[in-house]
Amino acid sequence: MGHAIEAQPEVLLHRYRAGQPLDEPAVWDAMRTEARAKAAEEPILGSYFHATILNHDSFRAALSFRLASKLDNPMLPTMLIRDVIGEAMADDDGILHGALTDIVATFSRDPACEDLSTPFLYFKGFHALQAHRIAHWLWGHKRRTLAQFFQSQISVGLGVDIHPAARIGRGILVDHATGIVIGETAVVEDDVSILHAVTLGGSGKATGDRHPKVRRGVLLSAGCTVIGNIEIGAGAKVGAGSVVLEDVPPHVTVAGVPAKIVGTPRDETPAFGMDHSLQ
Ligand SMILES: CC(C)(COP(=O)(O)OP(=O)(O)OC[C@H]1O[C@@H](n2cnc3c(N)ncnc32)[C@H](O)[C@@H]1OP(=O)(O)O)[C@@H](O)C(=O)NCCC(=O)NCCS
Repeated sequence: MGHAIEAQPEVLLHRYRAGQPLDEPAVWDAMRTEARAKAAEEPILGSYFHATILNHDSFRAALSFRLASKLDNPMLPTMLIRDVIGEAMADDDGILHGALTDIVATFSRDPACEDLSTPFLYFKGFHALQAHRIAHWLWGHKRRTLAQFFQSQISVGLGVDIHPAARIGRGILVDHATGIVIGETAVVEDDVSILHAVTLGGSGKATGDRHPKVRRGVLLSAGCTVIGNIEIGAGAKVGAGSVVLEDVPPHVTVAGVPAKIVGTPRDETPAFGMDHSLQ
C-alpha cells in the first residue's frame, strides 16, 4: 500500500512527460496523502492542511477555496469569489486541466518542489496563474470589471500582474513569481517556464496587438524584459536580465542588453531542463 502511494507522483510525472491527460482523482489522492503526512509531521499546521486540502472532497473544490482565500477582500468575501471560480471551472474544463498540468509541471521541473501539494499550498506563482485563468474566463464572458478586480487582487496580493486578456497555455512553471508583468495581447504557449521579474510588455510605441508571443517550451530567465509584438521561437532560452527587442529564432539562447544570440540550448525544451548554463 505504502509503495503504491509513494509511486503515484512518479506515475503522474510519467504521464505528463508522455503528453497523456492527467487524472483529477489521481492528483488529488496524492495531494491528500501528502497533506496527512505533513499534518502528522507538524501538528501546529494541522488546521491549515485541513482547511486547504483535507476538508474538501475534490481537487476542484479545494482549488476554488484556495484561490478565493487568496483573492478575497472586505468588499467581496471568500464565498462569493468561490462561487465565481466554481462557475468558471464548471463551464470550462481547460481551467481544471491547466491547474493539474501546472502542478505536475512544477513538480517535474522545480528542484525546490518535492511533491504535488507544495505548489498548491505554498507557491504564489501557481496561485497567480490559476487565478488568472479565472480572470481570463471572465474577460471572455464580457464580465470585464470582475476580471479586472481579479487582476488587481492577484497583483496586490501575489505581486504578479497579468492582464486578463493575455493567453497562457498549460504546463507552465511560474517560479518565485515576484514582479512578473504580462500585457494584454501577450501569448504564452504550453510548457513554458517563467522566472521572477519577467516582463512581457509593449514598447509604448504601438497600439492593438503589441505584446510578445512566446512559443512552446521557452525558458524566460529571471528579470528578462521582452518588449513589443515579437516572437520568441519554440525551445529558445532567454538569459537573466536580458532586454529582448527583436524576434528570437527557435532553439537558440539569447542574452544581453539588447539581447543577442549567444548559443544553442543543450535541451530540446529548455523550459523542462531549467538548465541555466550557457552552451
Ligand atoms: C529605450 C526605448 C524607449 C527606446 O525606444 P526607441 O527610441 O524607439 O529606440 P529603438 O527601438 O529604435 O532602438 C534604438 C536603439 O536602442 C537600442 N535599445 C532600445 N531599447 C533599449 C533598451 N531598453 N536597452 C538597451 N538598448 C536599447 C536598440 O537595440 C537600438 O539599437 P541599434 O540602433 O544599435 O539597433 C525602448 O526600447 C524601451 O525600452 N521602452 C520601454 C518599454 C517598456 O518599459 N515596456 C514595458 C511595458 S510593461
